[in-house]
Amino acid sequence: MCSSQAFDFPDITLSNCSDLLIEADAEDVLDFLPDNSIDLIYIDPPFNTGSTQRLASIKAEQDTTSVRAGFGGRTYKTTLVSSHSYEDSFSDYLGFLLPLLERSYKLLASHGTLYVHLDYREVHYVKVELDQIFGRSNFMNEIIWAYDFGGRSKQKWPAKHDTILAYAKDLGNHIFNYEAIERIPYMAPGLVTKEKASKGKVPTDVWWQTIVHTTGKERTGYPTQKPEAILRRIIEASSNPGAWVLDFFAGSGTTACVAQKLGRRFIAVDRNPEAIKIIKNRINMANVHKFGC
Ligand SMILES: C[S@@+](CC[C@H](N)C(=O)[O-])C[C@H]1O[C@@H](n2cnc3c(N)ncnc32)[C@H](O)[C@@H]1O
Repeated sequence: MCSSQAFDFPDITLSNCSDLLIEADAEDVLDFLPDNSIDLIYIDPPFNTGSTQRLASIKAEQDTTSVRAGFGGRTYKTTLVSSHSYEDSFSDYLGFLLPLLERSYKLLASHGTLYVHLDYREVHYVKVELDQIFGRSNFMNEIIWAYDFGGRSKQKWPAKHDTILAYAKDLGNHIFNYEAIERIPYMAPGLVTKEKASKGKVPTDVWWQTIVHTTGKERTGYPTQKPEAILRRIIEASSNPGAWVLDFFAGSGTTACVAQKLGRRFIAVDRNPEAIKIIKNRINMANVHKFGC
């Protein structure tokens, strides 16, 4: 791990460091990372929902003095354990994201890949821009992450998927570890040989994966936290052990956490001090580098 002394803005020399956790606006920091140096970039920017993303965790304890009635007529006292938030409203979304996508292209090594995680609100606008930046011929996939949780609209089809756009810097020269991809069960195992059924199949571009469970082990309390299983699939397929993985909208640090478990090195950037604190605990990291904050 880099010590804060050895970490020398504005000259980040990756060969001197292992992992980096940086509290900064992405805009202020990406220019100081070396060109052609990153193997994999995964980003999960704010989706432009038009409101603040907020998540409060509450603990309920049985308490005879409370008037709040619960299961079996017992009364409970609730305490706020944590509350985290970040802004998710942009008047010029492309103006915010585009310079960072352009910079991402330059940061990627020639075998590198970019994954951009969005939802229906902005994905089509961003795809048009990414086609320009990377070239349409380097478009790899539009991955649909499908889940089934939360409120359901009665006026339209309930929106229960996110879209992850994947671009190679140079398709054909990119890393794609097909054999390392964890196989999943066939939907209709009776239609394939027993041997194939027991081996399972490589997932398609539609990924069914439940969201991070409210009481699950992964849960950090940070809003819009993504499941480790999604990142595991991406990192295993699109990078080799020892690779540099960058996430400059790090949030609760899912990318950093999975990269660490898989023996990759990471650079995690977020401008929200609450996110940095959560990441620091999640991955047990001693030093945080602050930049421009
Ligand atoms: C959708 S969340 C990321 C969630 C993350 N993938 C996870 O699994 O927890 C987006 C994050 O981007 C951060 N963010 C927004 N604008 C930023 C900027 N300009 N620079 C750095 N971080 C930013 C927010 O603070 C928020 O934590």
